[in-house]
Amino acid sequence: MSVLPILEFPDPRLRTRAEPVRVFDAKLKQFVADLFETMYAANGVGLAATQVDVHQRVLVADMSDDRKQPLALINAQILEKEGSQVYQEGCLSFPGLYADVTRALKVKVKAQDLDGNEIVVEAEGPLAVCIQHEMDHLDGKVFVDYLSSLKRALLLKRLDKQRKQAASA
Ligand code: NI
Repeated sequence: MSVLPILEFPDPRLRTRAEPVRVFDAKLKQFVADLFETMYAANGVGLAATQVDVHQRVLVADMSDDRKQPLALINAQILEKEGSQVYQEGCLSFPGLYADVTRALKVKVKAQDLDGNEIVVEAEGPLAVCIQHEMDHLDGKVFVDYLSSLKRALLLKRLDKQRKQAASA
C-alpha cells in the first residue's frame, strides 16, 4: 500500500468530473487500499479519488473513533435525501480550513462494492455529511462552493496566510 499525494485547492484538477468505474479488478482493490491509507495517514474522515488525481467514481470514509469502520463506495448515487443539517466541514484539500455547510440530514445511497455488487447505504448525521461532501468532489465540487462569496473570500485569504506562514516557518 502507499500514501498518495493529495491535491490542494485551488489546483484545477480538483474541478475534474470523475468517470464511472467499469472494471472491478485487483487494480481497483489496490487503489481503494491506497485511498484508505492516504486518508488515515492524513487523519481524514473521507477522501475522494479526485483528491489524489484519479478521476474515477470512488470514495472512502471512516467516521469511527477507532478508525475501524472503513466504507468504500464505488459509483455512488443518491437515491433519497431527507431533512437538513448544518455541520462544520473540513477537507484534506483545504488543510486547516473549516466552515459550516448545510446539507441533507439523511441520505440513501446506491453504490457498488469492490467486487461490483450493488449495495445500498443509509446514512445520517456526520456520515451523511461525509458521503455528500465526497460525492461532490467526484463532480468537481468543493465545500467552499456552498459559501457566500464574501465568506469564501475571507476563508481563502486565511488559507493563503496559513500557507505563507507554513512556508516561512
Ligand atoms: Ni474534501
